Amino acid sequence: MDARTFGFFTLLLITLANAEDPYHFFEWKVTYGTMSPLGIPQQVILINGKFPGPVINCTSNNNIVVNVFNNLDEPFLLTWNGVQQRKNSWVDGTPGTMCPIQPGKNFTYKFQVKDQIGSYYYFPTTALHKAAGGMGMIQIHSRPLIPVPFDNPAEEFAVLVGDWFNKGHKSMKNILDSGKSIGQPDGLHINGKSAQVGAKAEPSWTFEAGKTYRFRICNVGMRTSVNFRFQGHDLKLVELEGSHVMQNEYLSMDLHVGQCMSVLVTADQPPKDYYLVVSSRFTKQPHTIVATIRYKGSNSPASPELPPPPPGNTAGIAWSLNQFRSYRWNLTASAARPNPQGSYHYGKINITRTIKLVNSRNYIDGKLRFALNSVSHLDPKTPLKLSEYFGVADKEFKYNLIADEPPPDVEKNIKIAPNVINATYRNFVEIIFENHEKTIQTYHLDGYSFFAVAVEPGKWSPDKRKNYNLEDALSRHNVAVFPGCWAAVMLTLDNAGMWSLRSEMWERFYLGQQLYVSVLSPERSLRDEYSLPDTTQLCGIVASMPKPKGYV
Ligand SMILES: *[C@@H]1O[C@H](CO)[C@@H](O)[C@H](O)[C@H]1NC(C)=O
Ligand SMILES: *[C@@H]1O[C@H](CO)[C@@H](O)[C@H](O)[C@H]1NC(C)=O
Ligand SMILES: *[C@@H]1O[C@H](CO)[C@@H](O)[C@H](O)[C@H]1NC(C)=O
Ligand SMILES: *[C@@H]1O[C@H](CO)[C@@H](O)[C@H](O)[C@H]1NC(C)=O
Ligand SMILES: *[C@@H]1O[C@H](CO)[C@@H](O)[C@H](O)[C@H]1NC(C)=O
Repeated sequence: MDARTFGFFTLLLITLANAEDPYHFFEWKVTYGTMSPLGIPQQVILINGKFPGPVINCTSNNNIVVNVFNNLDEPFLLTWNGVQQRKNSWVDGTPGTMCPIQPGKNFTYKFQVKDQIGSYYYFPTTALHKAAGGMGMIQIHSRPLIPVPFDNPAEEFAVLVGDWFNKGHKSMKNILDSGKSIGQPDGLHINGKSAQVGAKAEPSWTFEAGKTYRFRICNVGMRTSVNFRFQGHDLKLVELEGSHVMQNEYLSMDLHVGQCMSVLVTADQPPKDYYLVVSSRFTKQPHTIVATIRYKGSNSPASPELPPPPPGNTAGIAWSLNQFRSYRWNLTASAARPNPQGSYHYGKINITRTIKLVNSRNYIDGKLRFALNSVSHLDPKTPLKLSEYFGVADKEFKYNLIADEPPPDVEKNIKIAPNVINATYRNFVEIIFENHEKTIQTYHLDGYSFFAVAVEPGKWSPDKRKNYNLEDALSRHNVAVFPGCWAAVMLTLDNAGMWSLRSEMWERFYLGQQLYVSVLSPERSLRDEYSLPDTTQLCGIVASMPKPKGYV
């Protein structure tokens, strides 16, 4: 066979192999269990007996099938934070898209991770289950023929970090339902543990001298930004929420709630134990915990001297903002790119709509609520996507209670209602988040990744567009908005569906700082959005309605 024929056959094989992308099947039992993330035994939510739950380790375009058995005493849903669910908001796992899985019942999520790479995580969106666990890592690898801009690491480590409350999720929910704040967390955890310096700890990870390791780290907490750093080792940032970045070395990284990144660490130090250090940022009560990395064959404990944290308070915010500005997309790295906003040329597309959102906090009838443009979201009985699809949306909610411009005083006249905006399919939009409050905000959008083109102090105005990074901003799904700052993100609304745009600060999410973006394709064609899957469970006012004819 000559080279050309060989090439032809190889191509044919690849084509055939891709005709049906590989499947990964999971069966997950969701239960209560007892664990001691902060050293005190308490009720947690386990998946197959574990917190963190199983890692979904897959490759771009793989099919994922997860049969979730809800053995809790409450309805339950999982979302796949950062997985875009293209044309498929039916399985997005937010209260606006799906009926929750009832206690004792199961539901099978089926989706394809289209054209994405990177590090993500799943977590529960129902009640306040997120405070109790029920989460795990999602790692999406590049397809074998696509070059990755760094050498294959010796091993990959999945690390979920976050703040933790020892009150338990049911009493925390009661506190929020009674109109009060859950207050400050009691500590932090790394993969469900919280070792202190000097405590005898089993190593969490093992290094072999000379090898390089990839840590995929997500902040899955309720409200607290963290900083992480490795004793004695620099880290190299290589991936952030699905973008391969220009690979800079850092001493430490800030990781805000809902964000994920991959760093490489090379075992180039004398063989002994070292700590991964995680500390809280911008909190009244600081928390620092460690997890142990052991060089193979070492029996020397880690030094009690920890690498110092970056500055806190106001200087710390400037530090964190500068770190954000150092993130640049590697434009020459080939990778799956989100389509078509994944083109390099997002900076040349005309903006068709600007949506400016301002968060606020106030008491309504004596109860704490959070809002975007003065509307505090409340889930209706029926998931928004379903009442819209069945043509009965007008019985459940009104579109566009908020305008694209916030009212002058966002703290006044807060209205509690479903907060849903509609948007034109394929429009290129700019979303501005302006934070007038004294605490950091993080925002996440389902169904998409967006270009985070700027985060700046002060108030936004159209002339600030000249400060945008229109060349190599990261395509990602989360942006942190520091106190008294604004952030701008840009994206093409090319994924039809009902998508959650939310604060990842979970008390704020629970008490209304979220909305949904309804993106309808005018053709109602299967090319743009899948039909309602046959297996979809119905509830609320659509529970016994006949399913409408699907898209064609
Ligand atoms: C995860 O998937 C990648 C790509 O398929 C594979 O190389 C790797 O060995 C897997 N890791 C684990 C822990 O299964
Ligand atoms: C529930 O699990 C059973 C057994 O695995 C499966 O046959 C069935 O399809 C599942 N039901 C749903 C709604 O996913
Ligand atoms: C960007 O990606 C290219 C191609 O994979 C790689 O050779 C280069 O080292 C990367 N640049 C940086 C600064 O990370
Ligand atoms: C963008 O807008 C400018 C000014 O209105 C116009 O001249 C240009 O043709 C537009 N570009 C595209 C690609 O639509
Ligand atoms: C939003 O919905 C309203 C009412 O159905 C409609 O008049 C309007 O054109 C829609 N707007 C967009 C941007 O789709």
